[in-house]
Amino acid sequence: MSKPILTPEPLPETGNASVLFGGSMMSPIANPWPVYTRLRAERPAMRLDSPMGVAWLLSRYEDVLRAARDSETFSSRGNARGIGLLIGRTILEMEGREHLRQRKLITPFFGPTAMRERVAPAIDRIIDDMIDGFERDRRADLVKQFTFTFPLRVVAEIIGVPIDDFEEFHHWALALVAIADDPGGAVVAAQKIVEYLKPLLEERRREPRADLLSSLLHAEVDGETLGDKEVLSFLLLLLPAGAETTYRLTGTLLYALLAHPEVLEVVRRDPARLDSAIEETLRWESPVQFISRETTCDVEIGGAVVPAGDLVMVALGSANRDEAHFPDAARFTLGRANVGDHIAFGFGEHFCLGSALARLEARQAASRLLARLPNLRLSSDAPSTIVGLAFRSPDHLLVAWD
Ligand code: HEM
Repeated sequence: MSKPILTPEPLPETGNASVLFGGSMMSPIANPWPVYTRLRAERPAMRLDSPMGVAWLLSRYEDVLRAARDSETFSSRGNARGIGLLIGRTILEMEGREHLRQRKLITPFFGPTAMRERVAPAIDRIIDDMIDGFERDRRADLVKQFTFTFPLRVVAEIIGVPIDDFEEFHHWALALVAIADDPGGAVVAAQKIVEYLKPLLEERRREPRADLLSSLLHAEVDGETLGDKEVLSFLLLLLPAGAETTYRLTGTLLYALLAHPEVLEVVRRDPARLDSAIEETLRWESPVQFISRETTCDVEIGGAVVPAGDLVMVALGSANRDEAHFPDAARFTLGRANVGDHIAFGFGEHFCLGSALARLEARQAASRLLARLPNLRLSSDAPSTIVGLAFRSPDHLLVAWD
């Protein structure tokens, strides 16, 4: 791993992520924050060479918000160049009416009524089953034994995909989103997921159920039903989107609470404050650190002119640590008046469809673990840290309880 650029000399005009941060997009970098501080101060729009061509890295809150908001200038078709190459055309890269129509298909499965009536009871059952498996041990690695597969179990149930081996399936989902680092591995993972899902599609076409998969297979868009290819693309987006991101939020939330006993104490006394802790976690260590856009015209931003057709890496994580918007941004605290301004779920037309689900899962997981494992605390055996560049979360979380 190369060393990050943190010399006293001014940052260069161009570079690449490996040299800038000291590792590739999926590497377990522990502390990218000093680099972002320099970028925001010195080069808020930095031109990088990336595996997908030239990419401009935006790091200031105001620029990141502008790029996420202004979909005419910063088009989501930038997503077609990364994961879109592999999973096909999905709502992530669609625009306008086509995008709205596709969003409408799945919104009911992630809205408040579905959450309350169908999803919340399923989440509680899944959490309690998982805790039953290690409750008597009085110690656990909560990443390995809980957070890693918990959201995959939930989203698989919502979609209606029975999975025999959650761990293996989640490894495929992780390999899929690691396309920038290992395109070959991502292709193999996509094939494995497709092979797994294909027979299910046939089964649900014949015998629909009250699940998202049946709904996608029988939904009509402009008088036509979606073909297998389109449904598979949807699933290849939803399974990693639901699993990969929320496992990170849940792990980081647990770490943040256990590593900040004063915050944990407040949450134990007043469980309603858990919601503030979740928002602060999303801001403090955003699980998804970047979104991709493509410029539709030459545009001036962050002191640079980005030419039409270039890729833009919109650094949500850096924006959420921008001191100009969040004073004392490195601190994890419940007292932040503007925590709701974080943009961890994106902003505008493509705002995360699963945000309510992710929040519910994180809340229920933390409440049930704190309620069932008395005096839950970090174990000193192997101290945890949050790692990652494109995605961030603890890679292990050793805990003990009485
Ligand atoms: C903590 C957990 C999560 C985080 C941090 C997160 C983050 C994001 C972000 C930043 C976007 C915007 C992408 C863009 O603008 O290009 C997004 C979109 C999306 N997310 Fe999430 N997500 C999370 C959980 C979920 C879950 C649980 C699901 C449901 C299975 C989900 C489904 C989606 C979908 C379908 C989109 C595309 C929306 C569109 O393009 O209109 N996400 N997410």
